[in-house]
Amino acid sequence: MDSAEILRKRKYRHSLVRDFDSDRVLSAFLLGDDRPTLIFICQNNSDSSGTLPDLRDLERIVGMSLTVRDARKVEDGLAVVQQGQVQRVVLDESAFDREKIYLRSPDNTSALEISGEDFKALLEDLGFETESETARLRIYDFGYAAVRQSAQNRVVSGIQPSGDMTLGNYLGAVVNWQKQVENYDENFFFLADLHSLTTLPDPADLRDRIFKTVATLVACGLDLDKATLFRQSDLGGYHTELAWIFSCLTPEGRLEQMTQFKEKARKQEFVGSGLKTYPILMAADIAIYQATLVPVGEDQRQHLELAREIIRRFNGRYGYTMPVPKADMPQVLARVMSLTDGTSKMSKSNPNRDSCIYLLDNPDDIKRKIKRAKTDSNRDLFFDENRPEISNLLGIYQVLSGLAQAEVVEQFKGQGAAKLKAQLTEAVIEALRPIREQYDRLSADRDRVLEILSQGKARVEPIAQQTLAAVKQRVGL
Ligand code: TYM
Repeated sequence: MDSAEILRKRKYRHSLVRDFDSDRVLSAFLLGDDRPTLIFICQNNSDSSGTLPDLRDLERIVGMSLTVRDARKVEDGLAVVQQGQVQRVVLDESAFDREKIYLRSPDNTSALEISGEDFKALLEDLGFETESETARLRIYDFGYAAVRQSAQNRVVSGIQPSGDMTLGNYLGAVVNWQKQVENYDENFFFLADLHSLTTLPDPADLRDRIFKTVATLVACGLDLDKATLFRQSDLGGYHTELAWIFSCLTPEGRLEQMTQFKEKARKQEFVGSGLKTYPILMAADIAIYQATLVPVGEDQRQHLELAREIIRRFNGRYGYTMPVPKADMPQVLARVMSLTDGTSKMSKSNPNRDSCIYLLDNPDDIKRKIKRAKTDSNRDLFFDENRPEISNLLGIYQVLSGLAQAEVVEQFKGQGAAKLKAQLTEAVIEALRPIREQYDRLSADRDRVLEILSQGKARVEPIAQQTLAAVKQRVGL
């Protein structure tokens, strides 16, 4: 019996297949499989006199050539077809009436056993909509589940464990993360530990910092019921495989234009190629979770713009697969500057520890650093781009006090830098006190931190898996 005949034996209405919007039938796969499996579910139409779509119609819908894989396994209402490595299942809606359904893995070494009823419920829970209103042919589209889900907002952002977290990280990013956690249900934040290898850190130091950074983030008050924290390298396979695919779509010249690359390359004795391709991995970090919103500080603007370009190029070439994310930056003070040089950003990797306020600094450190912070001799205090140090201190005070810019200027009119520094010191100490206290409690509980990371991994992995499978099928792998 040839494949077309197997399908023809069942009575589906040909015309409805033709009517079907083929754009909506995209790549697909079974959850838990690393190979895409497309599932067509067709309403049982055996009473009607309609004709069956033949294989060519299915091929047209799927957009690739198909062969039936094992004719004997084709039971009533169910056919397994395969193109290359990609296995597809065609089944009749009557399948839902069965006591058990076996969904086999592409290599046939395992199968998911599920009752027809549960299978249907599962598909619905996962958001694979049926085209039930118009169609006798029903389509559950697995590959695009991730895309469909991303119609909602999903917030994704990361931080490198490349040093102790600074006030710049906090005001530039974490405060916005917290704000998004209030607004959205899906918030994924991760330790970009693969990124931090670009500066070849000492392995023992890196391990400590990973732990410390997670504990600091939790201590900042991220609501772990609504925010998921995980480690990039725990899902490294997904991130880096997508990054590789993205790298094939990224013009090399674009990487050379990145300001951060140029700055870091100037400072580092050894410049590995990872330092240059770093923004591609960032694009993959974002796209693998179908992010729609990425809260970052101003220094990441250029990287995010490149990520958007890469994702647009992928979607343009292979069809819509992931959303083009928006950046979300603080309205005030998207760039916190160094205390010792108002023209460079406050950076956790700056070896001069007096240039930064760290989130875990004690009150004495904070007092000393702010006291020594660079200012100028003009007693009149106002925001002015030609006075970067004063503007930075005023800006930090503005954000921490919640005042408007004009109110801050009014408050310090003619007061001189010493007064500003005293008030700022108080504000910073108060803002960081709860973080430090919470950190002290958490740092004694290593298991809790590890548990947070492993829960995070479990939560995000299915999404990464879905996206990567869809991407691979899209590109022809
Ligand atoms: P990283 O670790 O340098 O910084 C983490 C976050 O803090 C922000 N930030 C600042 N904001 C304002 N002023 C500053 N002085 C300041 N310093 C740091 C950063 O903008 C960032 O939002 N490549 C990223 C990590 C990353 C990522 C991603 C971020 C990897 N993949 C995907 C978003 C999405 C980085 O090195 O951030």
